[in-house]
Amino acid sequence: MRVHLYERAFLWLGAAMLIVFGITLIITSTAMGIHLPGNVQRLDPAQVREIPPFDEPGVRQIGENRYEVVLIGFAWAFQPREIRIPAGSEVTFIATSTDVIHGLHVQGSRVNMMLIPGQVARNTYRFDKPGTYQMVCHEFCGSGHHIMAGEVIVQ
Ligand code: CUA
Repeated sequence: MRVHLYERAFLWLGAAMLIVFGITLIITSTAMGIHLPGNVQRLDPAQVREIPPFDEPGVRQIGENRYEVVLIGFAWAFQPREIRIPAGSEVTFIATSTDVIHGLHVQGSRVNMMLIPGQVARNTYRFDKPGTYQMVCHEFCGSGHHIMAGEVIVQ
């Protein structure tokens, strides 16, 4: 049986690409430590409010110009709803949800997280520019999704 030259070339190209992708996967997962999210802290969503630090949601100062925001997303609000920090602060958000999947996006910043029930998400960002940054939920979470919002006020 004769296989057309182009067809043969295409088969070899496909095989070569498979090998390259396979090698890339092996290198990134072994030598570079790139992997699927593992080692994620998971809590029982129903118990979140009893487990530290989520038993005391809010903003606290943890160093010079460093703050920690323990945040809970639930239908349909963020707790705390308002975060006040001085300009130049580095803020670490530690967040989760108690019910369904919510999102947390602080507009104008790199803070863009998914709040998965009971799964603890972290993200750090430095707010240099004073102003009011809207916090919005960007995962559709039910009839009150559009009212699920808050503010980061940088003074
Ligand atoms: Cu919470 Cu949309």
